[in-house]
Amino acid sequence: MNSNEKKETEIRSIEELITALMLADQNLYDSIVRSIRIPYSMFYDYCSWSNETYTRNCIEENEKFELILLCWNGKQKTPIHNHGGEECWVKVIEGTFKENIYTTEKNGKLKMIKSIDSKPNDVTYMIDFMGFHSIENLSTERGMSLHLYAKPIRRCKIYDENIEEFVNKELTYHSIK
Ligand code: SIN
Repeated sequence: MNSNEKKETEIRSIEELITALMLADQNLYDSIVRSIRIPYSMFYDYCSWSNETYTRNCIEENEKFELILLCWNGKQKTPIHNHGGEECWVKVIEGTFKENIYTTEKNGKLKMIKSIDSKPNDVTYMIDFMGFHSIENLSTERGMSLHLYAKPIRRCKIYDENIEEFVNKELTYHSIK
């Protein structure tokens, strides 16, 4: 493939991304996410920030998929959670992140099995049979990550550190465009 052909397959705007996801089968979502080359400034319209928690900002939600922008203040992180049986792709837009992946042992205890650091353009993938994960903004600066879920995730299990058990959590948005 020459460089011109390669450029034609790159996705360069949020509108182009939504159209590609609407038209494609779910088995093509991985290559679509990996072909995203959207300048980070194009995500500014979708941003909101909180000192309490990372924010979940809905770009698009329909029967097939959910596309959300997570906005992170320095050092914010998710609880350890699963994905309600759905597929999850995470693409770093700005900043550096750490993803820790866990499984549960026979006695129910959590065990961390993998840790991945990611930077802009890196893509990671999760689905429940791979285990649970947590994501953390490694930096003290703000960061942004794009999350694609197929199908949309309405609820998931999050690990409550206080009672050392998973609890059910309804997922909500901080903003919707
Ligand atoms: C979330 O959607 O709130 C967590 C991030 C993820 O697992 O992709």
